[in-house]
Amino acid sequence: MEPYRIKVVEPLALTTPQQRQEALRRVSYNLFDLRADEVTIDLLSDSGTGALSAAQLAAGMAGDESYAGSRSFYRFHETVSDLTGYAHILPVHQGRAAERVLFSSLLSPGSTVLSNTHFDTTRANVELAGCTARDLPCPQAADLDSDQPFKGDIDLDALRDALETATPGSPVAAVVMTVTNNGGGGQPVSMENLRRTAELCRLHRVPLILDAARFAENAWLVTRREPGYQDRTPRQVAEEAFRLADGCVMSAKKDGIVHIGGFIGLNDTELAQKCERLLIATEGFSTYGGLAGRDLDMLAQGLTEVTEPGYLAERADIAAHLAQRIRAVGVDIVEPAGLHALYLNAGRLLPHVPPHRYPGHALACRLYLDGGIRSAELGSLYLGEEDEDGNPVKSAPYELVRLALPRRVYTRSHYDHVARTLEHIAKNADSVHGYRVVDQSPILRHFSIKLAPAD
Ligand SMILES: Cc1ncc(COP(=O)(O)O)c(C=O)c1O
Repeated sequence: MEPYRIKVVEPLALTTPQQRQEALRRVSYNLFDLRADEVTIDLLSDSGTGALSAAQLAAGMAGDESYAGSRSFYRFHETVSDLTGYAHILPVHQGRAAERVLFSSLLSPGSTVLSNTHFDTTRANVELAGCTARDLPCPQAADLDSDQPFKGDIDLDALRDALETATPGSPVAAVVMTVTNNGGGGQPVSMENLRRTAELCRLHRVPLILDAARFAENAWLVTRREPGYQDRTPRQVAEEAFRLADGCVMSAKKDGIVHIGGFIGLNDTELAQKCERLLIATEGFSTYGGLAGRDLDMLAQGLTEVTEPGYLAERADIAAHLAQRIRAVGVDIVEPAGLHALYLNAGRLLPHVPPHRYPGHALACRLYLDGGIRSAELGSLYLGEEDEDGNPVKSAPYELVRLALPRRVYTRSHYDHVARTLEHIAKNADSVHGYRVVDQSPILRHFSIKLAPAD
């Protein structure tokens, strides 16, 4: 059962099928453009969407809003230093700000960054620094159905090869390990893989940076799945993981359980000073980095709650509950189920919808129309390309739909509603039709795309 009881509630937005039809038509079938109060169960993102605890709100009330050197900063600093062990901690307003500040300070144009999988903003910030972002997921990641426990691992052979063949003219400037691997189905990274990555990085004098957005969820899965870690607490695993790396970027909107916030952690003093100068110019003074004092306090409290075994056990359990119900209605998900999201295999459910008619988007629209559920397409709409005449140029390797699970927000009966809606769709899968693009922007097209039902 949930290890908390509910003190503050918010009504769900209940709508009729006709209202949802009209809303979807109005936004040209782009779910990002819906008003949130047209959505009943919002599984678009687990980022910044969690519920605060009473202790977090109380910590926020004790926030110190001094411009510089606030008590809140020192509380935040002590919590993050204890957890991560890094010598320098800089607050930022969210993960992509950490990426921008760190990469602008660390990377020189023409170099390469390697990763198990770059999250899209991470890739964008590497590219904005004039560098190449290269993904090296382990081969097991390609099998969506297998039960392999650590499909978030980096491919160590490919990493060794890339580090050994790098030249002074085309150097590897950093390795980023994303835990858990959001771009790779939310799969965890093993400590063994992280340790061996750290050894290779040290050998080649390349900094290893943890993209720690879901560090606690990764640590929980390590305690469940990795031999030798069963007797460790998630907090102990997390502490070890941070200390294997040279620094981190953190979107605290995930495992900080706050609505806004993040930080950079670094051991390299010179690099930290460079980051601090940029931070002051673009985010805010180094003791607040774009956040209010109350945000820093709520974040510090969230970071202590997020590694509690009871909290993580329940989060894993509720995800397993939904996964089980979805499998039972005959819809495949990326296996094994993780914690922050479940990824539906829309391509397999809707084989009659070709990639350039976007089966993932078709399923996402149907989830909204039938159940008021908002999800995110992660298939050819997100990763594919078309030419100016609408002919497909590139499609995605898989047609997925991500159901992100906000922290402490929805109960099992909400998720049962999702499973029942999916059951109905699966039984009538033949009736689900595809979509065609009407208008799109050249970059990050999924945010602003306009579509229409395909004939
Ligand atoms: C793995 C990962 N890294 C970085 C980010 C970017 O964080 P933010 O949304 O706080 O900018 C995200 C956001 O979803 C993420 O999942």
